[in-house]
Amino acid sequence: MCGIIGYVGKQDAVPIIVDGLKKLEYRGYDSSGIAVHGKDGISVVKQKGRLSALEEQLAKTPLEGSLGIGHTRWATHGEPSDINSHPHIGSQSKIAIVHNGIIENYKQLKNYLEKRGVVFASQTDSEVIAQLAEYYYSGDAIETVIKMTSRLEGSYALGIMCLDDPGTLIATRKDNPLIVGVSDGGHFIASDVPAILKHTNTVHYLEDNEIAVLKAGSVEFFNADKEPLQKTPETITWNPDSAEKGGYPHFMLKEIMEQPKVLRDTLHSAIHSGGNKDVINDLDIARFNKIVITACGSAYNAGVVGKYVFERLCRFPAIEVELASEFRYKDAVIDEKTLVILISQSGETADTIAALREAKAKGAVTLSIVNVVGSTIAKEADCCLFTAAGPEIAVATTKAFSAQLMILYVLAIWFGAKLGKISAEAEQMLFWELENIPSYVEEILAQVDSIQKYAAEYVSCKNTFFIGRNIDYAIALEGSLKLKEISYVHSEAYAGGELKHGPISLVEENTLIVAISNCKSLYGKIMSNVEQVVSRGARVLLIGNCPDAAEDEKLSHISIPGSIDLFSPSVTVAALQLFSYYVAANKGLDIDKPRNLAKSVTVE
Ligand code: AGP
Ligand code: GLU
Repeated sequence: MCGIIGYVGKQDAVPIIVDGLKKLEYRGYDSSGIAVHGKDGISVVKQKGRLSALEEQLAKTPLEGSLGIGHTRWATHGEPSDINSHPHIGSQSKIAIVHNGIIENYKQLKNYLEKRGVVFASQTDSEVIAQLAEYYYSGDAIETVIKMTSRLEGSYALGIMCLDDPGTLIATRKDNPLIVGVSDGGHFIASDVPAILKHTNTVHYLEDNEIAVLKAGSVEFFNADKEPLQKTPETITWNPDSAEKGGYPHFMLKEIMEQPKVLRDTLHSAIHSGGNKDVINDLDIARFNKIVITACGSAYNAGVVGKYVFERLCRFPAIEVELASEFRYKDAVIDEKTLVILISQSGETADTIAALREAKAKGAVTLSIVNVVGSTIAKEADCCLFTAAGPEIAVATTKAFSAQLMILYVLAIWFGAKLGKISAEAEQMLFWELENIPSYVEEILAQVDSIQKYAAEYVSCKNTFFIGRNIDYAIALEGSLKLKEISYVHSEAYAGGELKHGPISLVEENTLIVAISNCKSLYGKIMSNVEQVVSRGARVLLIGNCPDAAEDEKLSHISIPGSIDLFSPSVTVAALQLFSYYVAANKGLDIDKPRNLAKSVTVE
């Protein structure tokens, strides 16, 4: 999704804004721009392409001023082009805006304004915002913003500058995140924390329809009736370094390597009081007759793992896992006896937010598992468990996914104990095993050289199938997504038993099969799948506890430490992540910012 940053204060705005846009690059974008309120009024430099191109342009046409807004665009309306880039300024050159989101009624508004003589420059929905603001502008910027946003349908996070107010930055939002950072050196708006973390860790999370008015020496908040609001700031505990690469070639590799620590932090935040444990203690699992887990992408895959773990430990009869983009429109059969668990790293995924609101509208109790404090899904769910993954910059999730699994394991043990399905001894043994997971992951991360070798060996494979049975099938889904996302290699995940029902027709010489085998009771079954594909010329990368897997030119093997197959996904996924990472690295791809992808899909 796009990124927004704005600054007003005593310092030169341009370097602050450009640096902030660099911190937002990971969110995915196709163009960028900046507007500064300087001695000559509002000046704009914007263009299609990477941020480095904008910097080159700024070197040629420098901007000066201590008030500015910046934007990285992920185009939804109007192709990526210089003119469609943000910031947009009205035809009177009075009001400049940057926008994240979609204005769904932009065509009606554009027609309305064109009939009144307004001339548009771009094909975007966003330009309507600037033009409408100028149309309503009467000298009072707040009044203007209130009038203008009252006509907008859709989603928006906005940074706004007005020619007549050279020291004022205005921000408002609806269904898209926007934070306000405060510091002695000046004040900020941003789409998320990493963009401003080096300047301040004191932030306000703007709520829908709230308006922030930032000046060099003050920050004020108002509601849509222009009544002053008192907001309490939050202190971000992440350190600025955690949003830097720390010597790794990519954020993704750094974040893969951070997983043992993240797993320990997340587990400890869940089992010691004062954190997630207190949240769950108030939840009476016995009152529910149905659990629905809903999410998107990797978070959905975590939910599939969770379903197997819940069923095994809680013996809960009705657990469904639903894609949020499907759940939100299916008129689900849920009610006050349903617990809906929503999983989201960013807490801002549009489909998952919509699923949350649908679940609440139907009376269900909502529990969210989120990484970003203050995010929409964290705030709107009835209760929220936080993954202690820290800022995750790479678009392809790794450490946040692993932390989601850890929270799901803890939930399943707690629920199983509350439902009387797990004895106190078993509960203790299960938590003891969770404590071991980080060291098992460390054993996998130590095999990075052999995994790198396999990646180099298999990088030429055109088609890849990830297969597994039971919980191994669940993590195969994530392995397949990771490979697709960052290496652009076509891959599918299948339950091992399904291959013979069609997909095996695609297996031929040089097809890669990644067979995951940690379920001891199904070892023989998955190995017969392996035989079936090897006999058809496929090459096999076996990941798991395979006691008699002899290495031969057709079959490579990564062994997975650990004793309980139920928690093996957390260990297997580290191998899958490294494998995908090195396939992509061998192909020289932009691993942290894969084409077409965004870190948080805040639009439908
Ligand atoms: C994961 O690697 C992808 N970036 C994507 O599938 C992601 O998991 C999905 O968009 C959900 O994002 P969320 O966890 O922030 O809601
Ligand atoms: N819908 C706007 C556009 O296409 C903003 C997209 C974004 O959030 O980056 O320009």
